Amino acid sequence: MKILSGIKPSGKLHIGNYLGMIKPMVQAQERGRLFCFIANLHSLTSVFDGNIMHDNTDEALLDLLALGIDPERSVLWVQSDVPEVTELTWYLNNLAPVGLLQRCHAYKDAVARDIPANNGLFSYPVLMAADILLYQSDLVPVGRDQKQHVEVTRDIAIRFNNIYGEIFTLPEAEIAEAVAAIPGLDGQKMSKSYDNTLEIFADKKTFRKKIMGIKTDSTPVEEPKDPDTSIIYAYYKLFATAQQAQDLSNRFRQGGMGYGDAKKELFELIWSHFEPFRENRMRLAKDPVYLAEVRKTGAAKARAVANQTLDRVRTAIGTSGN
Ligand code: ADP
Ligand code: TRP
Repeated sequence: MKILSGIKPSGKLHIGNYLGMIKPMVQAQERGRLFCFIANLHSLTSVFDGNIMHDNTDEALLDLLALGIDPERSVLWVQSDVPEVTELTWYLNNLAPVGLLQRCHAYKDAVARDIPANNGLFSYPVLMAADILLYQSDLVPVGRDQKQHVEVTRDIAIRFNNIYGEIFTLPEAEIAEAVAAIPGLDGQKMSKSYDNTLEIFADKKTFRKKIMGIKTDSTPVEEPKDPDTSIIYAYYKLFATAQQAQDLSNRFRQGGMGYGDAKKELFELIWSHFEPFRENRMRLAKDPVYLAEVRKTGAAKARAVANQTLDRVRTAIGTSGN
């Protein structure tokens, strides 16, 4: 089974990204062959500074390695290192109805917010379809917001297979419901775009400040509190054992515990959860030669698979010289 997912290098990773898609990818390495890539071509819709793009891509590679993507077992690469994906995108563009793309949320959001959309944003789902289909992926672990894009991919693949023969595997999105939409510090969905994130690799002071800044109601210390409406508890549950979660829930309900104390416990829990990952990251950051090697080897592995698919596609559509 092939499991594939990508992440855009457009900013610092937050715990929504981690729980919604990176951790599922790390775990997927036990179930099948993982294809994991840094979607730098997709982030060109919003990053227009070459230096920033370059540095973000390096950082994303470090992040993924530090969090447990194993480049020996899995295929880990940078999207633009496999130019075949842009060739397939062009072929797929001709099977992607404009109406279907107009209904996609990233484009619709831009239009609704009066942001002038470029053609890259409009055809973003087609590039994503090429990512998924090029590697004949079976499963695509993503957060809920990407489900629509995987459906578009299936739609395009079905059209292609109907016209040219059964070439593409039809992928399925895999969404872990419990972590499909992690709330942000303000209670909306956590997202870079809303400036409400808890960044995994923030420094200790910033991390503590963000947690201590979580908005709470004004229930006094001695009164009982409802854990189920509290973001503090929502985060705590995501990192705690069942016993720890039950214990905090009881203390919320009993009263006598202030939100400030609950936040301190939350800080300790999440900070220590990421401690081994921070250590990995620091160690890896000192080894640029290794990082360059990982990038090069990953691209070669990905291209070998990509070319197998693309050869069949070229023959089917009649662009192959043979
Ligand atoms: P952002 O919304 O911060 O820009 P991205 O769009 O780059 O994040 O998302 C990268 C991956 O992380 C996607 O698979 C997405 O579904 C997942 N993801 C992002 N935010 C969350 C969240 N709050 N909860 C769960 N998964 C999320
Ligand atoms: N669009 C995805 C996001 O915003 C990133 C992505 C690009 C992706 N290509 C993909 C995810 C293919 C899964 C499969 O998060």
